[in-house]
Amino acid sequence: MPITPASVQEVGDGLKGVGYLPGPSTALVAFLATKLGKPVLVEGPAGVGKTELAKALGRYLQRELVRLQCYEGLDEAKALYEWNYRKQLLRIQAEAGDAGWDRVQDDIFGADFLLERPLLTAISSPEPVVLLIDEIDKTDQEFEAMLLELLSDFQISIPELGRVDATTHPVVLLTSNNSRELTEALKRRCLYLWLDYPEPDHELAIVRLHTPELPETVATKLIEVIGMVRALDIKKPPSIAESIDWARALLLLGASDIDQETFRDTLSVIVKHRTDLDTVAERVGIKLEPAQAA
Ligand SMILES: Nc1ncnc2c1ncn2[C@@H]1O[C@H](COP(=O)(O)OP(=O)(O)O)[C@@H](O)[C@H]1O
Ligand SMILES: [Mg+2]
Repeated sequence: MPITPASVQEVGDGLKGVGYLPGPSTALVAFLATKLGKPVLVEGPAGVGKTELAKALGRYLQRELVRLQCYEGLDEAKALYEWNYRKQLLRIQAEAGDAGWDRVQDDIFGADFLLERPLLTAISSPEPVVLLIDEIDKTDQEFEAMLLELLSDFQISIPELGRVDATTHPVVLLTSNNSRELTEALKRRCLYLWLDYPEPDHELAIVRLHTPELPETVATKLIEVIGMVRALDIKKPPSIAESIDWARALLLLGASDIDQETFRDTLSVIVKHRTDLDTVAERVGIKLEPAQAA
């Protein structure tokens, strides 16, 4: 049975229970989304937990996650539905001669010949799902307009078949890395959640959740260093994803401290641009303890 949360607190605890530590507004917005039935637009830099929030909500609400990964050039055929041309063709060939065209035509534009894509799957599912429309900023405005219609009416028109009304209402999350401004019309229909790099305490808790075996002193130092790196003016500051990767790497290497040598050896786990590497090595490396002589 899908879960219907009764309070913000319940959503917060529920998300924690499935391995996601929500920030201050996250639980609130997620709760409202389940109650008001409005989509949530989650914006923020890469690697701060936007996609994972949708996955975690699915786990917590015990709903299946249906994911539409957006990309440049994504069209309705890949997002909504498509006719299965190959199957249609086979049917036409199989029936050639016997049945008249009218009968075959009625037949090949039936549900059996339809390929469901994520948006149609989400609204026609007998059990309510969590629908994740990931990285919506990668599509164009035309696609956004089509989506708008779907998100306000929860129905899809298929010319040959008729209208498909939603059987259940999904909890919808749209994510954006902010690579382009989304339309006002879309924003108006959504609740809004901005996810940023978390406060140090919060990020420490996230890192410890993912790598409980890493000594606490190392984890605390890691968060401090990550903060120093983010404060620099670099191309791509490390995100939570990099903090977690770094923690895993340090754990594997059995590091008991982050000194200059450890930092230099593992720097490429958190910084991934040639120029950033130089800046960070220069500006942050020197602030760390020199390596202990063995
Ligand atoms: N609040 C959080 N609690 C637990 N793990 C988190 C949290 N935020 C981010 N993460 C972890 O950080 C990584 C990156 O998250 P992801 O959702 O892929 O980022 P985004 O979609 O914003 O680019 C994932 O491994 C995710 O599990
Ligand atoms: Mg993502």
